Amino acid sequence: MIQLSYFLVLFLPFVACQVTEFVSVDCGGRSNYTDPNTGLKWISDAGLIRHGKVVEVATPNGWQYQSRTDFPADGKKYCYTLSTTERRRYLVRATFHYAKSDSGDSFPKFKLYLDATMWSTITIQDSARIYVEEMIIRAPSSSVNVCLCCALTGSPFISSLELRPLNLSMYATDFEDDFFLKVGARINFGASSKEVVRYPDDPYDRIWSSDQEKRQNYLVGVAPGTESISTSQNIDTRAREYPPLKVMQTAVVGTKGWLSYRLDLEGFPGNARAYAYLAEIEDLGNNETRKFTMQHPHVPGSGNVIINIAENANGSYTLYEPSYMNISLDFVFHFHW
Ligand SMILES: *[C@@H]1O[C@H](CO)[C@@H](O)[C@H](O)[C@H]1NC(C)=O
Ligand SMILES: *[C@@H]1O[C@H](CO)[C@@H](O)[C@H](O)[C@H]1NC(C)=O
Ligand SMILES: *[C@@H]1O[C@H](CO)[C@@H](O)[C@H](O)[C@H]1NC(C)=O
Ligand SMILES: *[C@@H]1O[C@H](CO)[C@@H](O)[C@H](O)[C@H]1NC(C)=O
Ligand SMILES: *[C@@H]1O[C@H](CO)[C@@H](O)[C@H](O)[C@H]1NC(C)=O
Repeated sequence: MIQLSYFLVLFLPFVACQVTEFVSVDCGGRSNYTDPNTGLKWISDAGLIRHGKVVEVATPNGWQYQSRTDFPADGKKYCYTLSTTERRRYLVRATFHYAKSDSGDSFPKFKLYLDATMWSTITIQDSARIYVEEMIIRAPSSSVNVCLCCALTGSPFISSLELRPLNLSMYATDFEDDFFLKVGARINFGASSKEVVRYPDDPYDRIWSSDQEKRQNYLVGVAPGTESISTSQNIDTRAREYPPLKVMQTAVVGTKGWLSYRLDLEGFPGNARAYAYLAEIEDLGNNETRKFTMQHPHVPGSGNVIINIAENANGSYTLYEPSYMNISLDFVFHFHW
């Protein structure tokens, strides 16, 4: 009993303080509400933008995806303004769930901007899929604009918009005053289901996709002998990016000596950064070690560095977080040992 109340006292203020700083906008939402699955408060975009029309979707998919806001296909920029604290780092996320039954109209294709920076071209190809775009930014001023424009087909639309402050030096880079960091993919290897991991498992509400999700060009070319492993033990994740425990408690092992995945990150620049989160979660015998190399096809010499996770992390069940600069994508990750 004493342990439980101690735990609660520590935990609640922390959660409360995170949540009040989250901004969660349900575009096309009829009202403000609390999502019972996460406890997060969502507000409707009605008071945030003067343009756009609410469209109820044909096949709702969860709380935020009952409706969306559509904008005219007239080449103007339609912008949401979100308040930020200057120089603080944030995760900015926009989602797009078209969910229109087959009516013969062509799927929308349009552009997404963060301030004046071209963020992404949104190309809807699967009406049921929730397309997620994320950017990690250091706020340049006291607000950021997320803008939609320039439909090539259909009308620009948006389903939700989220702003999540990050802590301290998470995702700090040397060039963050000049560049935003666009998230290509964030994958939970060895996931126990197809569900994503996010808040409250991840206090920063990053979305970690399951490696069990199946779609075209997403984690294909999996090496034979790839197996999932998991642990219920605690893992010390106190490094820079604080991946959630739930993500670190699962992993994949290449039982035949190698792991490989291919991932198509459309529209990605050739100057990317990869963050790998590794922890030894198998109890190896005293006479056993796990050593391997990671190879990037376009980075000469990348296969020469031998990784021993437990040694690099200074212990099992402890995070080792190497990051790799200037990765070019088409991107093949090989783990060999
Ligand atoms: C929803 O919440 C926002 C922000 O707190 C507020 O400005 C707005 O008036 C609320 N709308 C309704 C319908 O309560
Ligand atoms: C930020 O990181 C510090 C140091 O690890 C931690 O004590 C604090 O709870 C974190 N704050 C938030 C808001 O995540
Ligand atoms: C480790 O030692 C155990 C017991 O001595 C032995 O059975 C096992 O084969 C050894 N494993 C390796 C990889 O050498
Ligand atoms: C590694 O772990 C050992 C034992 O837990 C500790 O004594 C040592 O200070 C650690 N080294 C580093 C560099 O953290
Ligand atoms: C990455 O590329 C940039 C631009 O080409 C270059 O200035 C920088 O030195 C490279 N960084 C590393 C770590 O290779």
